[in-house]
Amino acid sequence: MTSELLKRVEALRQQLHQHNHQYYVLDDPVISDAEYDQLFRDLLKIEQEYPEVFSVDSPTQRVGAKPLSQFNRVEHKIPMLSLGNAFSEDEVSVFDKRLRDRLKDDSIIEYVAEPKLDGLAVSLMYEKGVLVQAATRGDGATGEDITQNIRTVGSIPLKLTGKGFPERLEVRGEVFMPLAGFKSLNDQLAAEDQKTFVNPRNAAAGSLRQLDSKITAQRPLDMYSYAVGFTENGAMPTNQWDSLEILASWGLKVCPEIKLVKGDRGCHEFYRDIGVRRSALAYEIDGVVFKVNDFQVQEQLGFVSRAPRWAIAQKFPAEEVQTVINDVEFQVGRTGAITPVARLEPVFVGGVTVSNATLHNMDEVERKDIHIGDVAVVRRAGDVIPEVARVIVDKRPADARPVVLPEKCPICSSEIERVEGEAIARCSGGLYCSAQLKESIKHFVSRKALDIDGLGDKLVEQLFDAALIKNFDDIFSLNHKDIARLERMGDKSATNVLQAIEDSKNTTLARFIYALGIREVGEATAKNLANYFGDLTLIEKASLEQLESVDDIGPIVAEHVVRFFKEPHNIQVIEQLLDSGVKWAPLLVAEGESGLPLEGQVYVITGTLKEMKRSEVKEKLESLGAKVTGSVSSKTNVLIAGENAGSKLTKAEKLKINIFDENQMFEMFHTFD
Ligand code: IVH
Repeated sequence: MTSELLKRVEALRQQLHQHNHQYYVLDDPVISDAEYDQLFRDLLKIEQEYPEVFSVDSPTQRVGAKPLSQFNRVEHKIPMLSLGNAFSEDEVSVFDKRLRDRLKDDSIIEYVAEPKLDGLAVSLMYEKGVLVQAATRGDGATGEDITQNIRTVGSIPLKLTGKGFPERLEVRGEVFMPLAGFKSLNDQLAAEDQKTFVNPRNAAAGSLRQLDSKITAQRPLDMYSYAVGFTENGAMPTNQWDSLEILASWGLKVCPEIKLVKGDRGCHEFYRDIGVRRSALAYEIDGVVFKVNDFQVQEQLGFVSRAPRWAIAQKFPAEEVQTVINDVEFQVGRTGAITPVARLEPVFVGGVTVSNATLHNMDEVERKDIHIGDVAVVRRAGDVIPEVARVIVDKRPADARPVVLPEKCPICSSEIERVEGEAIARCSGGLYCSAQLKESIKHFVSRKALDIDGLGDKLVEQLFDAALIKNFDDIFSLNHKDIARLERMGDKSATNVLQAIEDSKNTTLARFIYALGIREVGEATAKNLANYFGDLTLIEKASLEQLESVDDIGPIVAEHVVRFFKEPHNIQVIEQLLDSGVKWAPLLVAEGESGLPLEGQVYVITGTLKEMKRSEVKEKLESLGAKVTGSVSSKTNVLIAGENAGSKLTKAEKLKINIFDENQMFEMFHTFD
């Protein structure tokens, strides 16, 4: 590699970065696509020939990288908060007044008014101007590492331009899919007979959560930056407006609609103006956000629970349309719950055509006085399931009929029971009811249960409808021919499913318990039961009192568990499954004493670990008997702190809790080998 060539690589990268910026950020390309492609290919060729010039910020990284098997977790250095909501101008005025009262200063407050973009919040970390990590918001404290995917988004700089940025700079913003891109993506998916996305937000989310970044690279994603998060070594402006301006000068894209406004009147004007122009925007917004401009004032105002006091989102009202309720049918869920569903005259609302709306339960039907034949107001907010907001009684036709809960299950004709004081009616048929059975089988094979890859809802339906599976156990006697001849299946997919079925036989006690679908026993409860009893027969025989001494189990759940195992049919199902070869490694627990070296110890893991994934460390610790929790408290025995550990480390230090770094952790594991 000559220095001549190195210079050439640098120059190509520089040019490509510049053209990328012109195209994606400034929307003003100065060369043709063909010329761009040529430069790209030139660079790619050199990089392939001389792998030593590899760099994460090379424009060639935008095409995607090797697929991941899972996303790593990223702890946010500063929590990613949400916003308080206002639904009217009055509420915004109240907000503004509240701030002035709190500040004991009645001067007009200056706000930055921004569209509330309908996408996903992300955090980008730049070190010395190079994008090194990107994460989703997750629960606000920890998100998922989506760096590979973010690198494929054309308008996100892999390297900041200009100078003066802090050594470490976290930029926050919204990744979204512009409407035009959304439309062409859906057209393309439809043409390929693939599932389309319901709205741009789901499409953006689905694209960002791809383990294969090569797929993300083909999705028309964009991002507007709206805030600065963590910074280190470097000065930043002292207000929101200048911050956004400086981010733009470093090559980040900022929404061109943002405005500096004065007082609540300025906010109202902005809201009305954007409201009028909303449908002409190239992307979806679901409201506007007003943020106090001055950071010092922001600091003075501080936060309440998980939202800043200095900002508010004014949401647009959900779009409402009228349509006719043609019929009301009753669906039967896994636990027998009977849900009334309105069959609607198809209507376009909130970006999709809606022909069904859940009516939740009979109380709701009665409360809203819903009749078959009524004209209903239907709405869809965000990606929420469509609902009937109300019916227009004045428009009720003479032949409208009230909705009557059937006495017998529409699927299996068993009695329908409605417990006094409970809103939900249930089919009493249990697994005799084919609807409940079908849903139970879907649950049994689902990801958190036996996790049979490739055996999704659709295939379960097909197998069930073809009478190839009538109970859980039948899954294990499926043969290649049966599966391969189903629609959309073939030789290869049948082989894969059969292999996944075989693999699923090696499971864990917790998964098995969860898979059984006992009422109110979710993933966490199943885990607690497994850890506490360690053995299925002990759970089968457990008394209400014993069950209630398990973490998180109260009298209702205990009752469901006892009732489940009292039912001979259920015991029979379990025996058949065990006979088919379903098994799990025994947990070494004897009456609450595991004899494991870390029994009774509480561990917390934080920061970035280099050698092991967090999930692996957690598994290892749990296999040694420790309990791993998410937050440091006086009950914590050890904090495992990787690099860049944040508030948990500070807290552990304060509480004088043992802290192990990654090396010390390995030493400890080693002593137990
Ligand atoms: S600021 C502390 N600005 O709205 C304030 N958020 O509930 C943090 N969003 O999930 C957010 N457009 O993804 C802010 N211009 C904007 C926004 C925006 C959309 C989303 C954001 C977050 C949610 C906040």
